[in-house]
Amino acid sequence: MTDVADTKDEQSSPFHLRGNFAPVSTEASAFDLPVQGAVPQGLRGLYVRNGPNPKAGQSPHWFLGDGMLHGVELRDGRAAWYRNRWVRTRRFLEDAPAFGPDGARDLTVGVANTHVVAHAGRLLALVETSFPTEVTRELETVGCFDFGGRLTTGMTAHPKVCPRTGELHFFGYSFMPPFLTYHRADAAGRLVQTEVIEVPGPTMIHDFAITDRHVVFMDLPVVFDLELALAGTMPYRWSDEYGARVGVMPRGGANVDVRWVEVSPCYVFHPLNAYEDEHGAVVVDVVRYPELWRAGFSGPPACLHRWRVDLGAGRMSEQPLDDRAIEFPRLDDRRLGLAHRYGYAVYTERGLDHGIGTSLIKYDLRAGGSATHDFGPGRLPAEPVFVPASSSAAEDQGWLLTYVYDAARDGSDLVILDAADFTGKPVATISLPQRVPFGFHGSWIADPA
Ligand SMILES: [Fe+2]
Repeated sequence: MTDVADTKDEQSSPFHLRGNFAPVSTEASAFDLPVQGAVPQGLRGLYVRNGPNPKAGQSPHWFLGDGMLHGVELRDGRAAWYRNRWVRTRRFLEDAPAFGPDGARDLTVGVANTHVVAHAGRLLALVETSFPTEVTRELETVGCFDFGGRLTTGMTAHPKVCPRTGELHFFGYSFMPPFLTYHRADAAGRLVQTEVIEVPGPTMIHDFAITDRHVVFMDLPVVFDLELALAGTMPYRWSDEYGARVGVMPRGGANVDVRWVEVSPCYVFHPLNAYEDEHGAVVVDVVRYPELWRAGFSGPPACLHRWRVDLGAGRMSEQPLDDRAIEFPRLDDRRLGLAHRYGYAVYTERGLDHGIGTSLIKYDLRAGGSATHDFGPGRLPAEPVFVPASSSAAEDQGWLLTYVYDAARDGSDLVILDAADFTGKPVATISLPQRVPFGFHGSWIADPA
């Protein structure tokens, strides 16, 4: 096993093993954490975030490290505890191979490193190649979860909980047919619909969107590449030939109901949100890369764009909303599928591979304009998660939670901002007992009311 400390500052190692991308080697538990400012009394629950943290100290690609959860429990104005735990997948425990002897993906094996999402009383650590892994609120692993044997594909790390129905909409994609499969679980967590969605070939489909009435798929030209797969790295690359399409399916519909419209070639890891406008068009705000992985990880950055799909005319229009490089867009999840006013994202000023981002941006997409929150020299934020002040609070009445890496002390804080006073001083800065490596996505798991 490679010593983690050895790889951390080794300039010859790839970016995802250096600086605060480097994995940590210990699982810590700490209680009653020091707080600068005050944890709002209204914040009662768990902030938990997932990210790659290769057990071996190294991995061939940023996206391929074993998942590790970092959580902070907030209650009664206190930061009650911090824990970090590897997700104990079959790969972590047994080094189980990802593929069976027939070359098919073993869906019970995966790194579970991308997101952690609550639904129907379960907390699921997710990676898009595989079944979810259920974990507890204390971040201990329960095991593989396949919806009682009903799930037959991997599960995107970006399922959508409809705020109106409580349903969980998601999909799985694969390099072998069927390439794309849509799923819907009811509010009780029962898988009630599975539909194969026909697409021309195997592409990387990281995320999707829902509106109040539709499901929006993205079939974009980052295609499966067998040579890369055999080399053991991320098996996808840009294609100038594949073309790019967005598919809109009525909720409850099937493959025959999907309306596909051409879009200019691009890649989107993450939509901010989608909704239907007053004319019945489907609006999708996306963080759009003009191309991705043409030659390795580096490439042009992504900016916020608005797609407007006119279903009647079978056409779409595209409009840039900002020219700054961003990633990790989030919104008030109560607005998921509905018209939103505000969006939040990480400003990836120097490129994702230089530390996720340098500041956070709040967009006002109704009035126009934006605000920036800078955390100070050498203090680098990550994905912001919005928590409403109450169930009836207005759209930006609440808090934003993010882990901030402090390069000067090589440590991390959980920082809480007032979303309505975005440029103001943080409400609370919670000092964590160890560094939280740059990772991917997280959730706020509110205590039951
Ligand atoms: Fe993602």
